Amino acid sequence: MERLTTPEQAYQFVMQRRMRGETVGLVPTMGALHEGHLSLVKLSRQTCDHTVATIFVNPTQFAPTEDLSKYPRTLQQDCDSLERMGTDAVFLPANETMYPDGFSTMVGVPEVGKTLEGVCRPTHFQGVTTIVLKLFNLLPATHAVFGSKDYQQLRVIEAMVRDLNVPIEIVPGKTVREPDGLAMSSRNRYLSEGDRRRALLLSAALNRASEMTQDGVSSVSDLESEMRRVLLGSAETAGVDKIDYATVVDARTLCPIDQLRSPAIALIAAYVGQTRLIDNRILL
Ligand code: PAJ
Repeated sequence: MERLTTPEQAYQFVMQRRMRGETVGLVPTMGALHEGHLSLVKLSRQTCDHTVATIFVNPTQFAPTEDLSKYPRTLQQDCDSLERMGTDAVFLPANETMYPDGFSTMVGVPEVGKTLEGVCRPTHFQGVTTIVLKLFNLLPATHAVFGSKDYQQLRVIEAMVRDLNVPIEIVPGKTVREPDGLAMSSRNRYLSEGDRRRALLLSAALNRASEMTQDGVSSVSDLESEMRRVLLGSAETAGVDKIDYATVVDARTLCPIDQLRSPAIALIAAYVGQTRLIDNRILL
């Protein structure tokens, strides 16, 4: 596996392969890799001739109050895992490479990024669109793989690529879960044993909404109340500490709906202790 650090190395690695008519899949990450990330590498390898991963903890997508300095960094392990998965190259840029002195241009956020995470984390998605477009320019791959775990992010990137005519195909990957249902996340390692148990309430609430959908419930407010009830726990079992949202929306636009209709998705963001977790499930 090649380790690329400069923009020139990154660009050349991709262009050499594209000149031969070969496809290149890009897998952007912030490191602290788990099976969810590695499933995207696998999907890229199934889809493309070559796969390049990137590891960069992007400061512009963290608010000053968020966990940038605490974000887990496990570079050597990450590189070993990527190599084991058959990744052809990894791009590991320094902060100064991506944001040199004088950097000031930020990419706008499409409409689909204005709700939910866009409300709770108002500067987050402009950091994401900016770094992702920079990565697409530095590594002009044919395909880029993003996980459905960050469903709104996936939609934001699809919209950006469409709106700005970026010549790359976005490939969605399924959410990988722990055996008990918890969606894998780099932030799960912050959870204490008790918090880890409470974190399961997110997937439990989504499962409950899915069951109700199967049973024919079509009132979105009924589905949302039930998800909140599950998240808040009961007399015997403690609930999550704070719900940012637990909602059912149109899965294409992420706009609110009253009655369930396809495509619909349930999305949750909630705090367990200091850790903010997100999860989602397509209902219809
Ligand atoms: P990060 O949180 O490291 O996630 C990198 C990619 O892994 C994203 O596409 C995310 O959706 C995917 N992913 C995370 N957990 C997953 C899981 N359990 N199953 C499947 N895929 C999963 O998302 C980011 O980094 C950043 O915002 C980034 C796009 C790299 C821009 O900085």
